[in-house]
Amino acid sequence: MTVTCVVDNTVCDHSSFWGEHGLAFLIETKSGCILFDTGRSGTVLLHNLELLGIGPEAINALAISHAHHDHTGGLPALLDQVAGIPLYAHPDLFRERFSRGKELKSVGLPLEKEALEQRLTFQLSAEPMEILPGVWTTGEITDRAEPEGRSAHHLVRGVEGWESDPYRDDMALVLETGRGWVVLCGCCHAGLLNTLAHVRRTFGVDIAAVAGGTHLLQADKVHLRRVVKVLKELGLPRLYLNHCTGQRAYVILAQALGDEIAPCPAGTTFEVFA
Ligand SMILES: [Fe+2]
Ligand SMILES: [Fe+2]
Repeated sequence: MTVTCVVDNTVCDHSSFWGEHGLAFLIETKSGCILFDTGRSGTVLLHNLELLGIGPEAINALAISHAHHDHTGGLPALLDQVAGIPLYAHPDLFRERFSRGKELKSVGLPLEKEALEQRLTFQLSAEPMEILPGVWTTGEITDRAEPEGRSAHHLVRGVEGWESDPYRDDMALVLETGRGWVVLCGCCHAGLLNTLAHVRRTFGVDIAAVAGGTHLLQADKVHLRRVVKVLKELGLPRLYLNHCTGQRAYVILAQALGDEIAPCPAGTTFEVFA
């Protein structure tokens, strides 16, 4: 199994990849090819896939971590070339999402549910699903005893007005690789520690590595110390962090964990998972 970061906020040094605030991973297995999230735009997604020598028609399944447009913005550009393939996600993916800054704006899916349903085969569940042999969705992260990866400006329409986004759809992937079990995160709005605890509880496995966005942007020092403590209790999984991890959190984790942490810009390929 090979995992490649296709889209991230940053790119590999001296590469021709394009960066944008978004995330997409490509997972290549003996059984097929999965695109996990689609970045913020089709322009960047298709450019970076082309650099990797991957045409959209080579993708056998799509998996989406959650609705936000930095993870789903590339979907429209793919649809004509991936028609009929399955889309794995949580049923709440189609709930409208908003961000309130100077003005209120929609930050959810770039297409209506009906438009996607005409082109893709929905595989929607709050329970874990096996996408291909060795690759599962986590299902909904229901137990959130640890801090979540929240942004105060993320809203949904509630019965009585605007509510904080509960991020019920936020999921990660779990990969059984040649080097152990890997958790591949999208944005970790459900919380990194909650996600890892859910994987341990649901899959009953030791986690060898964690890659992707961990949404520690707003994490204070107390929480980051807790993250370090839990990671040590988990046997120090190797970390390949990007997207919404936050530069300050990355530096603090690197100071505490040293060589166990590495960046994961667009163009990074994990051959260690082969
Ligand atoms: Fe998000
Ligand atoms: Fe994100």
